[in-house]
Order: sequence, then C-alpha cells, then structure tokens
Amino acid sequence: MAQDDNIYYTRGMEVPETPEPGATPEFWEKTAVVGKPSPRVDGYERLSGTAVYPSDIKLPNMIYGAILRCPHPNARVKKLDAGRARKMPGVRAVITGDSDAAKNLKWRYDDFTTPLFDPHCRFEGEAVAAVAADTPYQARDALAAIHVEYEVLPHLADHDRALDENAPKVHETGNLVGKDEYSRGDVQKGFARADTVVERTYNTQCELHTPMELHGCVANWDGDRLTIWESSQGVYAVQSTISEVLDLPFSRVRVIGHYMGGGFGSKLQPGKYTVLAALLARQAARPVKMILTREETYLSVGNRPASTMHVKAGMRSDGTLTALDFRCTGPSGAYPAGGTSLMDWLVRDLYQCDNVSCRSNDVYINAGPARPFRAPGHPQGSWALEQMIDELAGKTGMDPVDLRLKNIPEISQARGRMPYTTTGLARCIREGAEKFGWKDAVKKARQHNQSNGHVKHGAGMAACLWIAGGGGQPSTVVIRLFRDGSVNLNMGASDIGTGTKTIMALVAAEELGVRPEMIQIEHADTGTTQYATPSGGSKTVPTEAPTVRNAAVEVKRRVLEMASGDLGVPAEDLDYKGAEIVSRSDKDKRIRVTEVSRLKKRGVVVGVGYRGPNPAGKTVNPFGAQFCELEVNQKTGEIRILRFVAAHDSGRVMNRLTYDNQVFGGIVMGIGFGLTEFRQLDARQTGKLCNRNWHDYKLPTALDVPADMESLPIEIDDPEANNTGAKGLGEPVTIPTAPAIANALYMATGIRFTRAPVTPLEVR
Ligand code: MOS
Repeated sequence: MAQDDNIYYTRGMEVPETPEPGATPEFWEKTAVVGKPSPRVDGYERLSGTAVYPSDIKLPNMIYGAILRCPHPNARVKKLDAGRARKMPGVRAVITGDSDAAKNLKWRYDDFTTPLFDPHCRFEGEAVAAVAADTPYQARDALAAIHVEYEVLPHLADHDRALDENAPKVHETGNLVGKDEYSRGDVQKGFARADTVVERTYNTQCELHTPMELHGCVANWDGDRLTIWESSQGVYAVQSTISEVLDLPFSRVRVIGHYMGGGFGSKLQPGKYTVLAALLARQAARPVKMILTREETYLSVGNRPASTMHVKAGMRSDGTLTALDFRCTGPSGAYPAGGTSLMDWLVRDLYQCDNVSCRSNDVYINAGPARPFRAPGHPQGSWALEQMIDELAGKTGMDPVDLRLKNIPEISQARGRMPYTTTGLARCIREGAEKFGWKDAVKKARQHNQSNGHVKHGAGMAACLWIAGGGGQPSTVVIRLFRDGSVNLNMGASDIGTGTKTIMALVAAEELGVRPEMIQIEHADTGTTQYATPSGGSKTVPTEAPTVRNAAVEVKRRVLEMASGDLGVPAEDLDYKGAEIVSRSDKDKRIRVTEVSRLKKRGVVVGVGYRGPNPAGKTVNPFGAQFCELEVNQKTGEIRILRFVAAHDSGRVMNRLTYDNQVFGGIVMGIGFGLTEFRQLDARQTGKLCNRNWHDYKLPTALDVPADMESLPIEIDDPEANNTGAKGLGEPVTIPTAPAIANALYMATGIRFTRAPVTPLEVR
C-alpha cells in the first residue's frame, strides 16, 4: 500500500473548505496546484510509445479492412462484380451494396439519409464496397480485383458556380443546401450616416483535416456485443450513431477511445468506415482493423469549407462603426454539412454596431462533406472582418488598435443584448499591444520600408471571440477515494491531446490535497465510464472541470461523515484538510484520512458530481487578440513570420503549460490557414483532388513558424461562468492569426491580400 506521505500533495495543505450539503462550492480565490505549469499526467506514456492509440490495437486473429472508393466526383455505379475479389488469397469478407449485411442499412449525412452504399456517388472517395483480409496488402489487392462500371456524370467543383442556372446539379433538388439570414437595425441608414465606406470581396480556400493519427477503428464482436476502439473525440457519439445504423441496443455497443492523435472536429462523429469495420468483423467472425490512408481521409473525413465573402462596412470619422453588410457563399460538399455555418458570427457580435445584415448561401458541390474544423466558420469570417477594420483604420488615419478599442461591446448584440459574464476583449487588445510593443513595431516597420530593399517589414493585429466556450450540462463524474488515500477519477470525456486528463487531475488534487500523480483517471469508455458529450467546441474544460470539482466535494463530505464517528463530533464541525480531518472548534480533534475507521472497513468512498447549469440570462464567451510581425521578400514571395504575441481571455488558466501549448498550436494552425494549406480540386477537368498527401498539401513546418511566440493570458475572475472560472481556449486561439498576418502583409507591401492562403505565388 502506498505511504500517505507520497499521496498527499502537501501535508496539511490548505484545501478549499468543504461546503455544507446542498451548498455549491465557492469560486477559488487562490489555488495551490490549478494554474501552475504541470506536465501531462500521461506524458511518459505519450512520449515513450506505451500509450495505446486505436491504430496500435492488435487483437488475436485480427484481420484488416479496406474500402473501395469511387474515383469520380460524380458517378453512378452501373455494375459491380466482386466475384474475383472473394477468391483472392487471405480474403475473409467482402461487402457490397447487394450484400445482405448492407442492403437495408442507411447512413446519415447530417439530416440527409442515403443507403449505406449509394449507387449514386456524389463525391470522389465515396464508399462503394469493403473487404477484409489477413493482411492490409491482401485487402488492397482484393479492392483492385473488384470490377466496377461507372457512368461518369458532370460534376461541380466550384462553389461560386453552384447557383448558376447551367451548373451541374449535385442533387435533383438543386444546389442550395440552405440560406441563413440575420439583421438588426437598418444597414441602409447606417451607411448613409457613415463618413467612410469600404467594400471588398474575400475568399478563403478549403482546408483539409490533417490530424496526425489517421481516422479509423478496430471492431470486435463477442456474441451479440460489439466493441469498437475508435480514434474519436467522443465515445458516446460513436456509440449512438453505430447503434442506430446497425439497429443494436446502445448497451451492447461499447466504444473505447483512451488515446487519439488529434481530431479538430473531424472526429466528433464516427465514419462509414466504423460501420463497415463492424459489418466485416461480423461476417468474418474476426476482429477487424480499419485505418484509412491519408488520401482517404483527405477525400472523405471533412474539411473547413471554402468561402466567398463580400463585406461592406461604414464608419463615422470618430471611429464609430455605423453599418456592416456581409454576404457569403460556402460549400457543404456533396451533403449538408454546415458550409457557411458561423462564418458571420464575428460580424454579428465582435464589435459594437447597430446596423448589421448577414446573408449566407450554403451550397452543394461534388466533393467530400465539410465537418466542424477548429472554431468552425470563425477564421473565415475573421479573415474578412479583421482586414476590413484594418482598411477602415488606414482610410481614416486611425490606429487599428484604437479603432477596435473604440467599438468594444459589453454585451452580446447578436443574442438579444445578453450580457457576457466577463469580457476581456479590450484588455486583450490593450495589454497584447503593450506586450508586443505595437507602436514601436509599426514605426520600425514603416522606417524600414522607406529603404529600397526588396525585403519589407510589417506588423498586424486582429481580435476575436468564440461563440461557445462556456461548456454546460450534462456531465457526470465519479471520484473514488480508496482507504490508502489514492484516488480514482472516472469521466466519459476524451482527452483529444490537449491535456484534459491533466487538468482534471489538478482540479481533484486541488480539492482533495492528493498529488495529481496519485489520481488514476478512467475515461472515454462507454462500457465503464460516465456519460460525456464529445470533446469539441472548446467546452471540455469548462464542462468537465466543475463536474470534477463537484465530485471531489462530494467525496470530502462523505469522508467527514465517516470521520464524525471516530472523533465524536458532528460532521458539520469537521473540515477536510487534505491528509487530515480536523474539528473546527477543537483543533486537537483530528484524524488522518487513511485512519478513518469506516473508510478502512469499507475500503472506498464514492462521490458523484454533476455539472450545474450555466448562468441564466448571460453568455460565457472567450476573447482574444493577436499581434504579428513579419518580413516579406518581394522577389521570391517568401513570407517569414518573425514573432507572434497572443493575448487571450479564457477565464482562469487551469494549467499554464498546456494553456501555452494550445495557444502556440492555434497560431500554427492559423498560419496554415493563412499561408500554406488549401485543397486543390481539378476544377476545369476531372474535378478530382490534386493534392492528396503531406507533400502536396503543405502544413506549416518548423521553418514556417516563428520561434518567438508569446502567450499572454488575460486572466479575469469569472465566478459566474462556473465554479472553476475556466472558459474555452482551444478554438479561439486559431481565429485571429491569419488576418493578423494579412494586415501585417498590407503594411509591408501596400497590397490587400484578400485570398487565403497567401502563397509566395500571390506575393510576387
Ligand atoms: Mo471542434 S471543431 O468542436 O472539435
């Protein structure tokens, strides 16, 4: 048994007072472990290779699945013959649209239902058949032996043409997925009042989901019970979809996702591959591993949709914004997938403006469906809005920092003027500018650019908010304190690589006084852990951390009840102090937790925590501002980012180390969006994807990212948000990066780069 000296973080450490039964824990005024830079509790496993990711799972008798995919962006399967494939060496299962296993199954793309194998393939990469064989190579060979005749149909690759009368129709009903409209005030009157009006069209290209770990799973049947190990952001989401598609009771579908190598929104749901793995496993009576190739993920698992945005903005000479008009078109892909979703949110809500009009057209094209992609819609909208603000500042000679500070709203205008629990927008802009040395950087860049050299300098900034990030119900966490003092924390949420488990260990450690490493976490397993919604929307910490805290408080209350018998005083008179329980009225009455006799006898005490409601009538949003300095070589077109300062208000910093990691990762992703990443479809001829690997699809590398990135947390107490004061962080940090770069490029070159990404070819 562990010594309790090793278990307790600090002997006699001041842990927060235990609230009375029924009372909620008070906001932490100060913390002992939460907020400190703390290495990940699973750092050793992650670095040593002992962490078992779904792609690492190997079961006895396991075989390998593979999917035949339509090579055309729009085609009808006329004939399919898998006879030869079935006889190939090592082949254990083959499933086609005619197989009994698949015939009556349906798949849902958002709210659009299709047969699992739809003979009409509306995007390149749509599934046509699936096989499983003893080795992955035999499976690929079998795919090659399936004979398919396609009727190739005209395709649509360009979303700007989708609503043209003569455009090929992706669906018989036409190419419009839906329209979204929003307005407040009167934009015409707003423009009439403006002293300066600017207007421009912006475009962003489609960015592909590129998590390090490929999408996939291992499926295994034990009688009529199915177990799936899936690289996923949410095991319960996988469980519900798979249960529904296969018509199984939820209770017989167990989904495990202990580790996963990145998702960014593309792993919020399972894929057809998960269903196919389960069907193949049933047919072969063997466990099946189905891991997609990079090419397959690029074709089929999602993307940040491209956008065409037309923005018009009006401003009075004192800097007051009088009107914002925003129109956009974005493609969902071949099925409904939120092609324009949240693209206008910053226009609606980031700055004070009485007259706003937004109109979006979500359209179909013949390409893989979009999926949520870190801060869906916001980086696109930010690319347009934040350059527009910069242009207004330039036109009127105002400093872009001052212009933004002039238009800070205290309330959410787009949510019926609902107040924010806290808003750090102004502080992010002001303190970020100070940290960056904004005024000096601008002066230095302008001076430098007066020389004749072809290397120009620029500084730029942009601000943001994220629509979500407050978290909310439901969430349940169970904490067990064993008689040796060690702790088990049970939650359903996935740690998508961001350090969720570590933060939850810190929260439990803070309340219980136990060292974080003595807290064993059980998570992300529908068979053994509590219910949680998928880890996404930057809501995991603000959702789960308060729940963990509530569970820990419940444990403390129960331990106090147990100790009351040993000490002969009522539980209300006792306080949990970490290693010890002490009477409030008589300091001599104390007992070590590990000596409490009922705990010793029973062996364990259990506390259940539930997530409380969010504040009524208020909204919880994170805010931020980023500042960029760069140089651009006008001969080669090379852009070198020199430094970034990122000031973010995400409420309480829960772990300074993983906090900064999220900030740096967000900037890197924003650099990819702004400078390097785009899906290239052969729009003029085949409509097929041209860049299908990490060589042709350029992610930012170490050389594209500045060594000098600074994270400046703007930490504002937010006791109303939840009992930990944490707000979301992961998504807001990628929103303002690209427009900050574009604004710096404008200062360097005098050119307004309206198309993202800005590659060297655009600059030269
Ligand atoms: Mo995020 S796009 O909600 O994983």
